[in-house]
Amino acid sequence: MKEQINVNEYANRIYEALSRGILLNTNGDKFNSMVIGWGHLGRLWNLPTFVVYVREGRYTKGQLDKTGEFTISVPEGMPDAEINRICGSLSGRNIDKEKEAKLTLVEGSQVKVPGIKEYPLTIECKVLYTQEQVLSNIPEDLRTKFYPQDIDGTNPMANRDAHTMYVGRIVDAYLL
Ligand SMILES: Cc1cc2nc3c(=O)[nH]c(=O)nc-3n(C[C@H](O)[C@H](O)[C@H](O)COP(=O)(O)O)c2cc1C
Repeated sequence: MKEQINVNEYANRIYEALSRGILLNTNGDKFNSMVIGWGHLGRLWNLPTFVVYVREGRYTKGQLDKTGEFTISVPEGMPDAEINRICGSLSGRNIDKEKEAKLTLVEGSQVKVPGIKEYPLTIECKVLYTQEQVLSNIPEDLRTKFYPQDIDGTNPMANRDAHTMYVGRIVDAYLL
């Protein structure tokens, strides 16, 4: 059963959860989920939006570019440690995260990307706009910390790759 919500009423919960990790799900060649810590709920061109930032080397990036759709899954309370570890440090290029992290998928309503029963707050998005970050425009202290040029893009944490911003138009939001 999906319980429709006004996602703006959950803004604080989403903001708090981001600091511990929420999930960005895609469904291109297969279902995949990655942990994100950066993102925001907002409004652009008078549309409700959710913005995510994905580094070049993530398996997720190829899936997003192929399908233009994603879902966001937010846990109730603390994230599950095992889901966070698997989806936040391993790549869908090498493993099946649905199986490894024991995720229970629930079919999407307006997009072909499922939500995740274990992380009930679900936001469905269609990509409206993308833009790659220009590293030279980032303040030097942050650029050095978050984009160390001697670490290659397969590293799950900070590395040389810029993020691409994906502005997703919110097309549905519910609790599973
Ligand atoms: C707490 C946390 C937050 C993260 N936030 C982001 C993020 O906002 N953007 C990003 O590109 N990677 C982020 N990562 C790294 C990805 O989750 C990680 O590289 C993942 O293995 C990528 O999966 P994929 O290759 O299947 O797409 C984060 C990891 C953790 C643990």
